[in-house]
Amino acid sequence: MNRKLSLLGGTTTAGDCRAAAGYLLRPRRLVEGPSIGMFEREFADRVGVRHGCSFSSGRVGLYAILRALGIGADDEVLLQVPTHIVVSNAIRHAGARPIYVDCLPDNWNLDVQHAARQVTPRTRALVLQHTFGIPADLDAIMDFVQERGLVLIEDCVHALGATWRGRPVGSFGSAAFFSTEETKIISTTMGGMTVTDDDALAERIRAFQTACAWPSRWLTVRYLVKLLAYHLLTEPRLHRLARAAYEALGEAQPLPRPTSADELRGGWDSELEQRLSNAQAAVGLRQLRRLDANVVHRRSIAERCAALLARRGFKTPTFHPEAAPSWVRYPLTVTDRSAAVRASHPHVVLGTWFTSVLEEAETPADGGYVTGSCPQAEHAAQHLVNLPTHGRVREEDVPTLVDALPPR
Ligand SMILES: Cc1ncc(COP(=O)(O)O)c(C=O)c1O
Repeated sequence: MNRKLSLLGGTTTAGDCRAAAGYLLRPRRLVEGPSIGMFEREFADRVGVRHGCSFSSGRVGLYAILRALGIGADDEVLLQVPTHIVVSNAIRHAGARPIYVDCLPDNWNLDVQHAARQVTPRTRALVLQHTFGIPADLDAIMDFVQERGLVLIEDCVHALGATWRGRPVGSFGSAAFFSTEETKIISTTMGGMTVTDDDALAERIRAFQTACAWPSRWLTVRYLVKLLAYHLLTEPRLHRLARAAYEALGEAQPLPRPTSADELRGGWDSELEQRLSNAQAAVGLRQLRRLDANVVHRRSIAERCAALLARRGFKTPTFHPEAAPSWVRYPLTVTDRSAAVRASHPHVVLGTWFTSVLEEAETPADGGYVTGSCPQAEHAAQHLVNLPTHGRVREEDVPTLVDALPPR
C-alpha cells in the first residue's frame, strides 16, 4: 500500500478548500458575516433543538454553558475520565470543582454506579461525554440525573451525528457542546457549538457570546491556511512525506495549535473566549450539510474494523443496541501500545486518545485528579489505540490496518 492514512483531514473536500480560499482572496466577510447565524441554526436543527450558539472552541462552549447555568464557586461537577484536560479547565475556570468518575471498560463511557457514589450535597451537574462518538446509556443517565436533581450537560465533542433510540445526542441534556476542531467529525480547524432547547439558557449563552471578542483577521487567516494545508498534506499519497516533514519540524511547526502550554498545565487564558469567524462557519456549514454521508461512511468503516479485529481476538467496544455511534475514531485495546504504533507506522498514524486520564495534561494532578481513583480510565490511558474512520479511509484499507497490528 503506497498510501499512508492520517488521523484527520478526511472531512474536508476540494470544494470546502475553494470556499476557504475565497475568503482569503476576498476577505470582506472573513470575521463577521451571515454564515455564523446560518451555521448555528442548521446545527441546532440537526440536533433537534431550538438554539445553537457558536464559539472559538468546544471548551469555551462548555464554559459558556456553566456560566449560563450559574454553576461556580462551591459547586461540584461530575465528569468522566478519560477526557481532555481542557474540559476540566473549563469547569475549574467557572469556579467549580471537577469530580472525576470512572468509565466502563466496554466503551469508555461513564460508569453510572461510580457516579452515584460520587454525589454529594454540592453536586450540581454531570458533564456526560459520548466517548469516541459512542452514545452513553442515556436511559440510565436520565434516571440518574432526574433522581438526584442534577443538570445534564452533554459533551458531544466526539459525537456529532450519533443517536440514542433514533434521537440525536446533544438533545437529552439541558445543553450540549460540540467541537469542530480539526480532529473531529467535521473540521473548521478550531470551533465550538453549544445547543439547547431552553430559551432562557440560550439567551444567557448568547449574552456571553456577545461579550466575547471576535477573532483577529490574522488568526482567522491562519485557521483557513491550516485547513487548506491539512486538506492537502493528509491526502494519503502525500501523507508519508508530509508526516515526516511535520515530525522533523517538531516545536517549530508554524500553524496555530489547538491547545496552549498553559492549558496543558490546567490553566485558562481569557483570550480563549472568542467567537467563531464567519469564514470558518461557512466551511463548517458545508460539512454539516454532508453529515449523513460522513457518518454512514464512518459506521461502515467501524463495522469492518469490528469484524476483522474480532477475528484477530482484539477487544473492541461493545454498546447498547439503541446506540448508533458516529465513530470519530475506532478505539480498541492493545497490550503494548508502543508496539502497535510502531507496527502500524508504514500504513497509518495510529491514534492514541487517550494517553492520560486527562488527555494531554502535563500531569493529571494539574486537573485535581488523584491517581488510583479511576482504575478503568487509568487502564484505558495505557492500552487504547484508535484507527481513523474519516472519508479518506477506504473499506479496502481496513484489512491492511488490522493485519499490521501485532498479535494481542
Ligand atoms: C471529549 C472532549 N471534550 C472536549 C474537548 C474540547 O474541544 P475543543 O478542542 O473544541 O475545545 C475535547 C478536545 O479534544 C475532547 O476530546
